Amino acid sequence: MTACFGWLRDSPPLIPAILSFHFASLPSAAKTGTALNATTTPSANPLREGLASRPVPQPCSVVIFGASGDLTYRKLIPALYNIAADGDLPAALTVVGFARREKTDATFRTELQEAVGKFSRSGIDNEVWASFADRLFYHRSEFSDADGYTRLVERLAQLDAERGTRGNRLFYLSVAPGEFEGILQHLAAAGLNKTTDGAWTRVIVEKPFGTDLATAQELNSVVSKTFREQDTYRIDHFLGKETAQNIMVLRFANGIFEPLWNHRYIDHVQITAAEPLGVEQRGPYYESSGALRDMVQNHLLQLLCLVAMEPPTDLAADSVRDEKVKVIRSLRPMSPEDVARDVVRGQYIAGAIGGAEVKAYRAEDRVSPESMTETYVALRASVENWRWSGVPFYIRVGKRLAKGGTEIAVQFKNAPGVLFNKGAEELGANVLVIRIQPDEGISLRMQCKMPGAALRIEPVKMDFHYGTSFGKASPEAYERLLLDAMSGDATLFARRDEVEGAWRFIDLIENAWHAAGPQPPLCEYPSGSWGPKEADELLARDGRSWRRM
Ligand code: BG6
Repeated sequence: MTACFGWLRDSPPLIPAILSFHFASLPSAAKTGTALNATTTPSANPLREGLASRPVPQPCSVVIFGASGDLTYRKLIPALYNIAADGDLPAALTVVGFARREKTDATFRTELQEAVGKFSRSGIDNEVWASFADRLFYHRSEFSDADGYTRLVERLAQLDAERGTRGNRLFYLSVAPGEFEGILQHLAAAGLNKTTDGAWTRVIVEKPFGTDLATAQELNSVVSKTFREQDTYRIDHFLGKETAQNIMVLRFANGIFEPLWNHRYIDHVQITAAEPLGVEQRGPYYESSGALRDMVQNHLLQLLCLVAMEPPTDLAADSVRDEKVKVIRSLRPMSPEDVARDVVRGQYIAGAIGGAEVKAYRAEDRVSPESMTETYVALRASVENWRWSGVPFYIRVGKRLAKGGTEIAVQFKNAPGVLFNKGAEELGANVLVIRIQPDEGISLRMQCKMPGAALRIEPVKMDFHYGTSFGKASPEAYERLLLDAMSGDATLFARRDEVEGAWRFIDLIENAWHAAGPQPPLCEYPSGSWGPKEADELLARDGRSWRRM
């Protein structure tokens, strides 16, 4: 059954666009119905042009420390290339790769061309590449060699003179955390953290930002000796994802959700980040991190903040971050007993994914055969404030799960059991699902009457897909974040107190897991499954279950 209707988008009066939602029934038991389309005809409204709030990126030199690393090849350079291909790079922009290996500008450019060919979301266009490549330079130095920084000063000054980069500098620390402090000290010693004549200098710090509260505080104090807080950009690439940014728009640009967005109407929230991949080549890093530090402390708590925060007073970076910090502060701290009851940690054993056999975590490259590192976490968190009193936030994250996908599911309370909800079998609740990836979009599940004389009620989905509605692929998170850093907009970067607050919450769980004496178990789950059965039991205890993805 497919019923269709359309209505006019509440668009500017001159150019109305048609938006049509299609309803289709879902199989009632398995609820695995196919996603349905919502399409808008994209239309630019000339009256709205110029109202966009994003600042314009300014001419600058982007200096990437760790230019021979994976992140540079897979993410940073493809992102910069795509910004160039979209015509959004400032005309005067240079990229200087700072790394230890011997290389010339020419070999660096050839390697990056290959990387862009492989990892760019839009492929590679020879003409765009030629003009982009002309902005790339390589600077060889040890991170600990003062002379390398003195030479960098000269090189950047020369590029300012030749390329018009105006003394603006964006330093990107894409290196192991152990290198952060030394690099920052050398930048300061060479005077590279200071600018003159109205120029700016900023630093982007990659994750992991510390491994617990104490190390994060230490790192923050090191960074703050070199750069001002407003010039420090702590990256969390989830915040750059298009759909994560859309959470605030969904909540605060629409009148219908906010009145319902509280404990009176919402039963609970589920946040899931599932990956079919294992740890791949990152064994040593992952062994010292685990899923809780790798994903929950940063990415998933950030998503939780966006769902739970109050409306900010305006869209300034600090106004938004003030509200997120309040959510983090409202997270109920967990005692060891809470951890034992409300947090499940798991580790994958051998299994099959997509028909192929995969090995256990303990058999992965450079992973201890007795490793106690978790590759899966499920937890129940409480945001103790007026809005969310009594509403559990369930978070689950794992590697080697059956399917990949990140989503937030907001489950509303059931309709009162007086008319249709009277029967022994309850009708399902309304669920608003925000799909962060893949197939970015939003869907709302509701109950509808099936056509016919009998009264049969079936759940249907109203579904919006970015791809179909806007007709173009979303930019990669790093594109947006690099553009923002070049524009001086820190809204999508984590502030010092946010990062420290998140560690304060996570440390309690880590401490309970690693305390002397009896510790909560590390539960096994086969690769290709949806995680340990204990995670299902966590929700079953509350009379709930995880959403099928
Ligand atoms: C990274 C984690 O921050 O995020 C990885 O270190 C994880 O372990 C990755 O795989 C997931 O990001 P994305 O954008 O691929 O979902």
